[in-house]
Amino acid sequence: MLTGKQIVLGVSGGIAAYKAIELLRLLTKAGADVHVIMTRSAQEFVAPLTFQTLSAHPVHTELFSLIAEREIGHISLADRADLFIIAPATANIIGKIAVGIADDMLTTTVMATKAPVLIAPAMNVNMYTNPIYQENEQRLRRFGYQFVAPVCGTLACGWEGQGKLADPAIFEAALSALTPKDLAGKKVMVTAGPTREELDPVRYISNHSSGKMGYALALAAARRGAQVLLISGPTALTVPAGVEYLPVESALHMQAAVMARIGECQVVIKAAAVADYRPCERIATKIKKGSQPVTIELVKNPDILAVLGALQDRPLLIGFAAETNNVAEYATRKLKEKNLDMIVANDVSQSDAGFNVDTNRALLIFRDGRRIESGLVTKMQLAGVILDQIAGELAAGPQVE
Ligand code: CTP
Repeated sequence: MLTGKQIVLGVSGGIAAYKAIELLRLLTKAGADVHVIMTRSAQEFVAPLTFQTLSAHPVHTELFSLIAEREIGHISLADRADLFIIAPATANIIGKIAVGIADDMLTTTVMATKAPVLIAPAMNVNMYTNPIYQENEQRLRRFGYQFVAPVCGTLACGWEGQGKLADPAIFEAALSALTPKDLAGKKVMVTAGPTREELDPVRYISNHSSGKMGYALALAAARRGAQVLLISGPTALTVPAGVEYLPVESALHMQAAVMARIGECQVVIKAAAVADYRPCERIATKIKKGSQPVTIELVKNPDILAVLGALQDRPLLIGFAAETNNVAEYATRKLKEKNLDMIVANDVSQSDAGFNVDTNRALLIFRDGRRIESGLVTKMQLAGVILDQIAGELAAGPQVE
């Protein structure tokens, strides 16, 4: 995800400095080349050797270290950064940056960089809410510095409140900061997961969809700057950051949610595995077992995607086709019958594609007959391939037929 990216990680002196170690590990694991700068007080909390070992680069601590300056000095570090992260950022370091003080390696390098700067504050709640701090943060935000707000909890100083380093969110914010915003200004609806069709208060008919593909698309679209509305059946997944989430249960429920919001969206990606049938009636009390075989009568659910395809003024429509045989033929038929712009077909009979796994192997088929094979990729990678195509279609504008 971050291969070829140069990141400068500034660590300032707070107890949360140890959390920067895990952040460094995540960044390097994702392929980034990370150079660490530590302030003098950060070194009171964590030894530079830890960061040096994990980053495989010397840690920069002294502004006037002649050897370090000759090999890779602060200006060179500032220039080479694709992204500058300061985590944890103390009130002191933020205050200094806000008023232009550059009196150590970290403040000097951050002032010299033209890269986006991501600041993750961590401090006592009273320091965080202090109007002086707040004014400094607002000033930096006005200049385009991005912040990952601290979270609430028990702070190291014993206070309860907002001030804890938002460590899980920093990595995501870094990925987002490094992603070109080619879907900015677009609203994308993603439907995901299975639907549940209730038989009685304790039983339902559903399918094996985990929602992973839809959630990957929602996250990837949000990173690319889209406003994302995720309409999802029940899944065990965490809702991606920055995404509007609308939980639904049944196909009818999903249809109502989709139709209520369709007017706002320029793109709809229907990754949900909508149940094609529902029980004719939902029994109000639990069905008791008996000795006779049971027959459940089912009625067809509306095909939400086909309804969207038939709209006069329809958004860009991307469907999925879950097949076990004749993949390309069935998918092409669905593309035409449902009047789609693109269909993502996968063979769900394979163990490394489709339901409940992290990988997929898809065939993208377009209205004009063009085809793209993804090969075996992660669902996040496939989301990237699909969104590249969507961004291309949006940039090309509506096609005259
Ligand atoms: N779909 C939908 N509403 C339904 C059924 C499917 O919107 N009631 C959408 C799915 O979200 C998917 C596409 O249609 O994007 C194809 O779904 P799939 O289950 O592969 O095919 P079906 O159209 O249901 O046809 P079949 O089950 O016969 O393969």
